[in-house]
Amino acid sequence: MKTNKLSYGALLLSMSAAALSAAPVQADERSGKEVVETICATCHATGKDGAPRIGDKEAWSQRAAKGLDKLTQNAVTGVRKMPAHGGQAALSDIEMSRAVGYMVSGGHSTDTNKAYSSPKTRTGAQVVEERCKECHAEGKSGAPKLGDMNDWKPRLKNGVAPLVKSAINGHNSMPARGGLANLSDAEMKSAVEFMVGKTGGGAGQAH
Ligand code: HEC
Ligand code: HEC
Repeated sequence: MKTNKLSYGALLLSMSAAALSAAPVQADERSGKEVVETICATCHATGKDGAPRIGDKEAWSQRAAKGLDKLTQNAVTGVRKMPAHGGQAALSDIEMSRAVGYMVSGGHSTDTNKAYSSPKTRTGAQVVEERCKECHAEGKSGAPKLGDMNDWKPRLKNGVAPLVKSAINGHNSMPARGGLANLSDAEMKSAVEFMVGKTGGGAGQAH
C-alpha cells in the first residue's frame, strides 16, 4: 500500500534524525543489534509462528504504519503469538525500543535513547494486587513486606529509581518484573511507588 510505504520512509527519516543526537549506549544496556541477535532472532530470523522476518521490508512497512511507539508497545505487552518482551522480562523499555527500531529498519538504524511512551494501563495498586502481593504480602522468600517500614527503609537509601530497576531486572529470589512479563516499565514504577508508599516512608527523601 502506498500510504504504508510513505510512512515507512518517514519513519526511517525520523529515526536517522534522532540518531544524530543519540547518547552513547550505557554499559548495562544492550544495543538493538545485540538484543535482536541474541533474543528476537529466534523467531524473527525465520518467521516462526508468523513473526515478520528481519529484512522483510514489505512485512515491516505494513506494521510500521502504526508508528514505532505502537509497535514497541505491542512488543512490550505481547500480541497474539509474540510473547511479552520477546519472552525476556528483564529487557528494559530502551532495549525494547532499540530492538524494534533495528528490526523495522532492516538492521540500518543507529541506536537512540529516544524515550517512547511506556504503556500504562494498570495502576500501581492493580499491579500489586494482581502480582506482587503474592510474595510481598507475607514476605515470601525474604521479600520486603508491604507496609513494613523496617523492611523497606534500608533498601530506600538511594531512592526509588534503583529499586524500580532491580525489580525490572530481578535479583536473588525476586523474578524479573515479578514474573509477569507483560508489565511495562511505567507499570513497574507505579507498583514500586505504591509498595513503598505503603510504608509511609518518604520515598527519595535523603537524610
Ligand atoms: C517466540 C517467538 C518470538 C520472539 C522470541 C520474538 N517475537 Fe516478535 N513476534 C513474534 C510473532 C509470532 C509476531 C507476529 C504477531 C502477530 O502480529 O500476530 C511478532 C511480532 C512482533 C512485532 C510486531 C508487532 C505489531 O504490532 O505488529 C514486533 C515489533 C516484535 N515482534 C518485536 C520483537 C522484539 C523486539 C523481540 C525481541 C526482544 C521479539 N519480537 C521476539 C514472535 C516472536
Ligand atoms: C515470586 C515472589 C515475588 C513476586 C511475585 C514479586 N517479588 Fe519483589 N521481591 C521478592 C523477593 C524474594 C525480594 C527480595 C530479593 C532480595 O533482595 O534478595 C523482592 C524484592 C523486591 C524489591 C526490592 C528490590 C531491591 O533492590 O531491594 C522490589 C522493589 C520489588 N521486589 C518489587 C516487586 C514488584 C513491583 C512486584 C510485582 C510486579 C514484585 N516485586 C513481585 C519476591 C517477589
